[in-house]
Amino acid sequence: MNLQVHLGNLTLSNPIILASGTAGYGREIAPYLDLDRVGAFTLKGLSSTPWVGNPPPRIHETYAGIMNSIGLENKGFDRFFREDLPFLENFQTKIIANIWGKTIEEYSDIAKKMNGLERIDAIEVNVSCPNIEQGGESFSSNGQVLCQLIQNLRQKIQKPLIVKLGPNTDDLNNVLQFMEKEGVDILSVTNTFPALAIDVENQSYIFSRKTAGLSGPAIKPLALKLVYDVIQRTRLPIIGMGGIMKTEDALEYFLIGAQAVALGSVNLIDPSAAVQIIEGIKTYLVQKNIFDINDLIGKVR
Ligand SMILES: Cc1cc2nc3c(=O)[nH]c(=O)nc-3n(C[C@H](O)[C@H](O)[C@H](O)COP(=O)(O)O)c2cc1C
Repeated sequence: MNLQVHLGNLTLSNPIILASGTAGYGREIAPYLDLDRVGAFTLKGLSSTPWVGNPPPRIHETYAGIMNSIGLENKGFDRFFREDLPFLENFQTKIIANIWGKTIEEYSDIAKKMNGLERIDAIEVNVSCPNIEQGGESFSSNGQVLCQLIQNLRQKIQKPLIVKLGPNTDDLNNVLQFMEKEGVDILSVTNTFPALAIDVENQSYIFSRKTAGLSGPAIKPLALKLVYDVIQRTRLPIIGMGGIMKTEDALEYFLIGAQAVALGSVNLIDPSAAVQIIEGIKTYLVQKNIFDINDLIGKVR
C-alpha cells in the first residue's frame, strides 16, 4: 500500500500533518504520539522576537468546536533554536515551520532564519490568524498587501513555501493566480473562522479582543467548501484542514482533492488521534481495493 504523497517538491511518507499551534514545538505532544508516524508536523507559529499574545481567557469551548484567542503568543526564534531544535533532530518526520510577523520586514526576518535551518523541511506562512490587531488576518484581507508579502518572502525562502489562507481572503482569484506565478509551492486551507461568544452571567464579551477563532467540527463543512473553492481556481497542491476528528473527515478532504490534511483541535482532545486516523485510512483503502492513496485524491469532482 502506498501512502506517500508529493506536494510539489515536498514528499511526505503519509498525508497526515499536525496543524500549527496544536502540538507545540514537538516535545509537548511527543509523550503521546510517535512523531515519526505522521507525514509532517507543523510547529506552533513563531515570530522573530518573543510575543506575549492575548490576555486570558484564551480558549472557550462551544457545542461543536473550540474558540481560541491565543494571539500567536510564542517564545521567539532564539529560544526555539536553543530549546526545541535539538529535540527535533531526533526525528525523521518532515517538520514545517509556521511563521508570522506584524510587518513585511518581521515576516522576512523570521523567514530568513527558518530558511537557514537544515532540520526545517518547509515554511508555512500564516497570513490568516484572526486574533491579533496587526499582521495575521490583516495580510490575507488585503489582496495587494498579501501579494507584496508573498513576493518578498519567495525571494528569501528556498525551502518549499506554503501559504496558509483563512476564510476571509480578499480577492481570492487574483491572489491565487499571483501565488502560482510567483512560485508558491503549496496552499494550506484553512485557518480558524472569526467568531464571537458572550458571557451571559457577567453580561460581557468572553474574550478581551471580543472575537476569537473557531475551529473543530463546527467548521468542517465550511472549510471543505473553502478547499473546494480554492481547488476550482488553482493547480497548486493543497493541505486541507478544519474540523477533522476521525478518518471519514480526512477522507472527505482527499476525495474533494486535497493532497494532504492537517489535524488541529483533535490533538487537544486526543493527542494520539493521528495514528488512529492513519490506520483508519489504511483500512478504508483495503476495503475499497485501492493500493495507492493518490488514486483516491480528487475522486469527487
Ligand atoms: C489553540 C490553537 C492555536 C493555533 N495556533 C495557530 C498558529 O500559531 N498558527 C497557525 O497558522 N494556525 C494556528 N491555529 C489554527 C490551526 O492550525 C488550524 O488551522 C485550525 O485550528 C483549523 O483546524 P481544526 O479545525 O482541525 O482545529 C491554532 C488553532 C488552535 C485551536
